Amino acid sequence: MITSIRGQNLLSLDELTRDAIVEVLDTAEAFVEVNRRTIKKVPALRGRVVASIFFEESTRTRLSFETAAKRLSADVLSLAVASSSMKKGESLRDTIGTVDALGIDAVVMRHRSSGAALQVSRYVPHVRVINGGDGLHQHPTQGLLDAFTIRQCLAERRGVVGTETGAELFAGLRVLIVGDIRHSRVARSDIAAYVALGAAVRVAAPATLLPEFVEQWPVEVVTDFDEAIEWADVVALLRLQRERGSGSFVPTLGEFTTTYGLSVGRARRLRPEAIIMHPGPMNRGVEIDSLVADSPAAVIGRQVENGVPVRMAVLYLSIAGADEERAS
Ligand code: CP
Repeated sequence: MITSIRGQNLLSLDELTRDAIVEVLDTAEAFVEVNRRTIKKVPALRGRVVASIFFEESTRTRLSFETAAKRLSADVLSLAVASSSMKKGESLRDTIGTVDALGIDAVVMRHRSSGAALQVSRYVPHVRVINGGDGLHQHPTQGLLDAFTIRQCLAERRGVVGTETGAELFAGLRVLIVGDIRHSRVARSDIAAYVALGAAVRVAAPATLLPEFVEQWPVEVVTDFDEAIEWADVVALLRLQRERGSGSFVPTLGEFTTTYGLSVGRARRLRPEAIIMHPGPMNRGVEIDSLVADSPAAVIGRQVENGVPVRMAVLYLSIAGADEERAS
């Protein structure tokens, strides 16, 4: 298990200890203030180079990683994969090798194949690799920013100041994750983070949208969303991933929405302090009603906002942490 991501790759939250996760959340707390300044920049990674290579579509992850790197004063090399030499048949290995030859310290990457980030880490072992989402496997920075957002909301509601007691807020917390669990790398990373921090997690989905071997996951599986809704302190909806064929796992979209969508009626049955989350992008009117998505209980915009300080923390610890390791 990795006890700190200082100087390390970030490929999966499954391999991080609670302390490693808390270190990222506490470091991100310090970067929140930077993002509120008029001049949103610190010299922490001046002279360092971060490559951003997204082989799969992204709005939030890509923009917030590139923003994070720039706010740390790193130079950013952003490869437009659709107009790159991969279209002429260049392999992943040669593409990464070419970008590496330009002199990079880290690569942030997203790929449709589970395990692609691990593979790249073997091609360029001297470069820090940050997984921005690989197939169905992991989306570790989404898990971290979701945990950060929950901690921030709970701290505000309970009047907790500072980070010292922040991680304790998860003890006994009840998180319900709903929807397309089968295809969701976000669910896999969220569950790893929440369980490591001490929360109880339930997943609600039709049997067809549950992954194989879900009984080995550290969660309770429920099939009745209506039964579970009053239990939850946090309800996290997942996007029905039609690009991964999710549409063929449910009889009709309408039936999925009727049984597993967070409608206005269901949202009324939530506990008064419950938080509603969605990693985005949302299918409004499918997994979440548009009115619910825009309601005060929903923290979806805050999740996006927190992507920047959390990704600043990840880049800082992973890249600058390597210097600390060498110096010690
Ligand atoms: N949540 C998330 O990963 O969004 P993007 O696909 O827009 O990066």
